[in-house]
Amino acid sequence: MNRRAFLSWGTLGVAALCSAVGVSLAAVIRFLMPNVFYEPPQSFKIGQPADFPFGPPTFLVDEKIFVFRDRDKGFAVASAVCTHLGCTVAYFQSDQRFHCPCHGSVFGPNGAVQHGPAPRGLQWFEVTQARDGMLRVDKDKVVPPSYRLMV
Ligand code: FES
Repeated sequence: MNRRAFLSWGTLGVAALCSAVGVSLAAVIRFLMPNVFYEPPQSFKIGQPADFPFGPPTFLVDEKIFVFRDRDKGFAVASAVCTHLGCTVAYFQSDQRFHCPCHGSVFGPNGAVQHGPAPRGLQWFEVTQARDGMLRVDKDKVVPPSYRLMV
């Protein structure tokens, strides 16, 4: 091996080593950076009481909740997340029950399981009225199905 060939192989070796160190360093930096998962806030305003009609519940798509308004009983908020695998349930006014389209679970008017495979009933969340008159739902505060806010 002459001197020129030795130098070119040497240069190639140094470049390969630098490349390997760079890739390793990038992997270490990526490993040290946390995987942050941002959840939407669990307490949020949903609107004025007058925004919600009496009768069938209002479904809020982004929040995945049903807002019930009853003339005599007031407001109640139910989760639209099935307790089986998390699909979004639908409310049928015809039989006043929640039906899950994924695996067929059925929940009664108070959210209790009437037909599995869902292991638990739907959750109900606390709803309060903020100082500005808006309704506020707190998904961290689970309440019994009989909970109502009179406004
Ligand atoms: S996710 Fe609702 S029944 Fe499976």
